[in-house]
Amino acid sequence: MAAETAAGAWVLVLILWGAVVGGQNITARIGEPLMLSCKGAPKKPLQQLEWKLNTGRTEAWKVLSPQGDPWDSVARILPNGSLLLPTIGIQDEGTFRCRATNRHGKEVKSNYRVRVYQFPGKPEIVDPASELTVGVPSKVGTCVSEGGYPAGTLSWHLDGKPLIPDGKGATVKEESRRHPGTGLFTLQSELTVTPAQGGPAHPTFSCSFSASLPRRRALNTAPIQPTVRGEHREGVQLVVEPEGGAVATGGTVTMTCEVSAQPLPHIHWIKDGMPLPFPPSPVLHLPEVGPQDEGTYRCVVTHPSHGTQESRAVSISITETGEEGSTAGSVSGSGLGTLALTLGILGGLGVAALLIGVLMWRRRQHRGEERKVPENQEDEEEHAELNQSEEPEAAENSAGGP
Ligand SMILES: *[C@@H]1O[C@H](CO)[C@@H](O)[C@H](O)[C@H]1NC(C)=O
Ligand SMILES: *[C@@H]1O[C@H](CO)[C@@H](O)[C@H](O)[C@H]1NC(C)=O
Repeated sequence: MAAETAAGAWVLVLILWGAVVGGQNITARIGEPLMLSCKGAPKKPLQQLEWKLNTGRTEAWKVLSPQGDPWDSVARILPNGSLLLPTIGIQDEGTFRCRATNRHGKEVKSNYRVRVYQFPGKPEIVDPASELTVGVPSKVGTCVSEGGYPAGTLSWHLDGKPLIPDGKGATVKEESRRHPGTGLFTLQSELTVTPAQGGPAHPTFSCSFSASLPRRRALNTAPIQPTVRGEHREGVQLVVEPEGGAVATGGTVTMTCEVSAQPLPHIHWIKDGMPLPFPPSPVLHLPEVGPQDEGTYRCVVTHPSHGTQESRAVSISITETGEEGSTAGSVSGSGLGTLALTLGILGGLGVAALLIGVLMWRRRQHRGEERKVPENQEDEEEHAELNQSEEPEAAENSAGGP
């Protein structure tokens, strides 16, 4: 009611202003009466005046005079020369002109350009999402505004700031329909976002309708606040080797937890829902598996700033059960034993290689000393060959010596 009164007062203000200024733009609310004054028209009846209209209802110009019939229920001229449209509609948009002869016999013209408007109902977000998933394009909801004219626009806000669709993090699918009977618009805007890692856990989305009219405040929806889920599967990849997780007794299984986050978060492992007692590592290596290793494994990623993420579950199955539980207790021990043995052999080989190296170096050094004071002829020949470029003749001489 207050809005209607305000709109009425607004129209009146425009009419009064129009009486002063020559031509005027008028904005009128659909369904309300509109009165346009004919400037210069004498207050007495039977004035010399004429109204000309070019609107959605007319073909070219339609002329109305005080002496003529009123135009159905569309428009009529009042005794003081003003034109009254009792119920204005979309079809009444157009140009209105009045030409009157005033008391002094002077012609006065009025010129109006009329536009109409209708405010839609309060916009609403239908199908609001309750959860969004990090890294996954998720539908936030569809903002709907019904019954507005002219169309206007819908826009989204995230945490109070305008959300500009960029086609990557946020996309908007818009649709505009017109009611066939009333000509009023229904707008829809479907928002899809891909929440970024490390973003807010409870973002607030709202939508607002802006009329394509000046001096009008936007209409806002009630905000919605979905929860951003971190424990999505997509951000954490669990790779198992051998693929499929089926392995023969005594074989080896390696599971690798791949995370794109930087800095690398803390990663631990769970088997059948229970944490495994290993130091945090992105790799879980199970050598010489036995039946006790069968089960469901996941890696759990703990980010320093925001919660944990669990990988998909991987099922490890042991295909051959040749040896029964007897090996069960010793699997990890024998695994370590094999590792120790391997390391021992490698270490031994390393030491041997080092010793050989040292020995050869010592021998070289020894020869180097010999070169300075040659005693052995064979050594001397070798030396000569090595130093041909330096002293070829001297070498030959000494080679062909006594
Ligand atoms: C009326 O509106 C038209 C466009 O719609 C604009 O060009 C013109 O300047 C306006 N006139 C006044 C007096 O505001
Ligand atoms: C013309 O008459 C109507 C109703 O009688 C009145 O509301 C309006 O203010 C008048 N207009 C002018 C310009 O005098």
